[in-house]
Amino acid sequence: MRTLIKGGTIVNADATTAADVLVDGERIALIGESLEVEAERTIDASGKWVIPGAIDVHTHMELPFGGTFAKDTFETGTRAAAFGGTTTIIDFAVQSKGKSLREGLDAWMAKAEGNACIDYGFHMIMSDVTDESLKEMDALVDEGITDFKLFTAYPGVFYSDDGAIFRAMQQTAKNGGLILMHAENGMAIDVVAEQNVAAGNTDPYFHGTSRSPVFEGEATNRVIRLAQVAEVPVYIVHLSAHDALDAVRRARNEGLPAYAETCPQYLFLTLDDLGNGFEGAKFVCSPPLRPAEHAGELWKGLATDDLQVVSTDHCPFDFHGQKDLGQGDFRKVPNGLPGVEDRVNLLHSGGVVGGHMTPNRWVEVISTAPARMFGLAGRKGVIGVGADADVVIYDPDKKHTISAKTHHMDVDYSCYEGWDVTGNAEIVLSRGKVIVDSGEWLGAAGDGRFLKRAPAGELLNRT
Ligand code: URP
Ligand code: ZN
Ligand code: ZN
Repeated sequence: MRTLIKGGTIVNADATTAADVLVDGERIALIGESLEVEAERTIDASGKWVIPGAIDVHTHMELPFGGTFAKDTFETGTRAAAFGGTTTIIDFAVQSKGKSLREGLDAWMAKAEGNACIDYGFHMIMSDVTDESLKEMDALVDEGITDFKLFTAYPGVFYSDDGAIFRAMQQTAKNGGLILMHAENGMAIDVVAEQNVAAGNTDPYFHGTSRSPVFEGEATNRVIRLAQVAEVPVYIVHLSAHDALDAVRRARNEGLPAYAETCPQYLFLTLDDLGNGFEGAKFVCSPPLRPAEHAGELWKGLATDDLQVVSTDHCPFDFHGQKDLGQGDFRKVPNGLPGVEDRVNLLHSGGVVGGHMTPNRWVEVISTAPARMFGLAGRKGVIGVGADADVVIYDPDKKHTISAKTHHMDVDYSCYEGWDVTGNAEIVLSRGKVIVDSGEWLGAAGDGRFLKRAPAGELLNRT
């Protein structure tokens, strides 16, 4: 099957070009001006942008958390992602305490296989660093699971102490992978949280005030310094605070391979959203939403490339029946927000239209940099000959209103309810197949393939 995309403007991270795109089977076969070639289907892209399918490197489909599970399955979550212009996700498989990495990986593979509608890869969450799990890391890198997330947060659940983190870092320095860090001082946070609850401060707002940005800055600097000694690249996930950004920037200015992502919730929402009584539970995530001044710093960090990626940390829990497990004690609210469907449009609307970034930089942070940093360069994240034909025909002028009534994520609320955004993914191709066309779903569960990714550690070490 050949598809000719005619009359559009290709927006890549490095250039904007008026050119046609020929898709042959699953790949981009030809790019050129006014192509006159035979094709079974022609898509008129005049007035539209042709961008590489977006890549969300931080999702949690079906993550067990706080006695419940993130609501989106690989089917519902990846379908919603596609409606929002995302054609690849990298989700987090979880090693439970006392279990092997392999058991965790097998479980997540089973959840995704036959269900995912778009291509997917996995990072591995390490909750139990042992001699055995350290050895297993190398095998996983060989199989395309090239990154390992460790936590200085969530004591008793995902938390690892500095020694365990350092051991995992040393192992990764040898196997070429990348260490991902959730950097908040979980031990100190738990003390403040307990004091808040003892004082009767049980509303979701106190989730935010218990998790000081200074605790995030401290932990970010600490893990970067551990990585410096272990001589491994480190990537800070869901960075929310200027304290943490300062630590990353300082390290990068010293020439260290330190990287970071932020998420739309930290750019667009604030600590105030956690107020309003228990309604604030809709906005409980970790790190928490911050006072407004932090967002301004994050936009600057994106402009200077001290932040390279915007991902979602998509981890949705219904307000009714899941978030309300934390009525009377904010510590019991499952942590996480929905967002996999909204990232591309929010970043276009607030970022590009809002004057914070160019269209090219937008493509860079939502697609090209994620591909480069997570071992998919050349294959994803670019409109280029030979790349997978993950292509979005994007209408930069289309306006719509975000609402839980119309979104495709399987969650009963939206953090952006009633927000007007500009820009929409009109037509979405996944490896050459049209899966979304003007709001109509044409994809299928099981069409998504597992992506065996290349280790990017060596490349990242050279930066
Ligand atoms: O609140 C969050 N971020 N939930 C998902 C788990 C994590 O820490 O990424
Ligand atoms: Zn995390
Ligand atoms: Zn996460």
